[in-house]
Amino acid sequence: MKFLITAGPTREPLDPVRYLTNRSSGRMGYALAGAARHEGHEVLLISGPTTLDVPPGVDFIQVETAQQMYDAVHDLIKGVDVAILCAAVADYRPVACAEQKIKKSADKLVLELERTPDILGSMRTVFGFDGKLIGFAAETNDVIAYGRDKLVRKQCDMIVANDVSKPGIGFDSRENEVILIFPDKEVHLEQDTKERIAMQIIEHATVIEA
Ligand code: C5P
Repeated sequence: MKFLITAGPTREPLDPVRYLTNRSSGRMGYALAGAARHEGHEVLLISGPTTLDVPPGVDFIQVETAQQMYDAVHDLIKGVDVAILCAAVADYRPVACAEQKIKKSADKLVLELERTPDILGSMRTVFGFDGKLIGFAAETNDVIAYGRDKLVRKQCDMIVANDVSKPGIGFDSRENEVILIFPDKEVHLEQDTKERIAMQIIEHATVIEA
């Protein structure tokens, strides 16, 4: 099967030397790419900036902004069987990127932000993707209810939900503990390394009914 996986944070520039980003390390997405490749699948990893090594045998595209990630997914989704959108895409970006470094002057600086394009939300509706679609949901409360809502709204086959309020798992950490949310059931994966969690997610992803 052909997998497309997004990973890492995005960077939204403010001026030539500054950007808005988040604490995603990219580890979960890279582990998913490695696990899918290990199982013999063709894998395209589209990633924001990380310090990680690309798993061997994985096709790789590096992007920086949410818009670039959106464009890359749009351009490369054709022929993909399973899409796993794991990237921590910035929800907002500066309305304008200053051409020159913003100088300090006033005591307060107000930034105007606008929404970035929703890649997961565009998969079915804009890109016409009809393969298996897996999204991630990082929540601090009511994890299953919010995850299930996202499953329906974004027309996913599986949502990987994690509780980012728990210390030691999730963002910027080596371990994770997640709940896989399907239309008809939930599967709890106990705390483990992101590599072992990734293997289990890939196993579940490959047996989803087309
Ligand atoms: O709605 P929320 O941002 O919590 O959804 C998270 C899921 O949506 C993740 O799978 C993430 O990769 C994806 N996403 C996206 N494009 C965005 C924001 C989130 O694909 N602009």
